[in-house]
Amino acid sequence: MGKVVIMDHPLIRHKIGYIRRKDTGTKDFRQTIGEIAMLLCYEATRDLPLEDVEIETPICKTTVQELKGKKLAVVPILRAGLGMVDGILQMIPAAKVGHIGLYRDPVTIEPVEYYCKLPEDCQEREIFVVDPMLATGGSSSAAITMLKERGCKNIHFMCIIAAPEGIERMKKDHPDVDLYVGALDEKLNEHCYIVPGLGDAGDRIFGTK
Ligand code: PRP
Ligand code: URA
Repeated sequence: MGKVVIMDHPLIRHKIGYIRRKDTGTKDFRQTIGEIAMLLCYEATRDLPLEDVEIETPICKTTVQELKGKKLAVVPILRAGLGMVDGILQMIPAAKVGHIGLYRDPVTIEPVEYYCKLPEDCQEREIFVVDPMLATGGSSSAAITMLKERGCKNIHFMCIIAAPEGIERMKKDHPDVDLYVGALDEKLNEHCYIVPGLGDAGDRIFGTK
């Protein structure tokens, strides 16, 4: 069974509080989403394996530890996941980036797929799917199914705010995937928006409403 890690770091809590405020404007919202993504990435990569490597400092030979094994890829779910990519790349500059395009149909709330472009060797990579919001879980679950259909195996999911319904859906559909969650909220409202949440993440990052 994959892990579900709910963050308790004070910096993450403080920054999530800031982006929940309705009067936080696009520029600050976007910047803070990037900062939170960087901190989530730090926590989500805690268990990556290391290996000993012999090197020479200007003073002497020594053994250091470097990341071992699989290379990483970040896969944002468009649109809002894009807001998390730069923060993660600041931590892992060599990661490749794939894109999955999905939007929630406003009437059925079902995810509609419109784009998928992944690194050629994505099957060999450790994959971090990112989306700020895990509401019903429909979009994230569909994105992970798309990755699995293309042969990806080592998949992790990072979000900033989750509803309990989304976590349950992910645990049921993808029990092998670790979930890293910035904050766990109370519930979904009648439009399947997260309560208290932060509104529509894509609109707030890109200033479209
Ligand atoms: C939002 C959000 C997630 C999805 C979450 O995207 O970024 O992808 O909704 O909801 P779910 O868990 O119920 O599927 P949206 O569909 O609004 O698309 P957008 O990013 O293009 O605005
Ligand atoms: N998508 C969002 O952007 N916000 C929500 O609260 C739910 C889905």
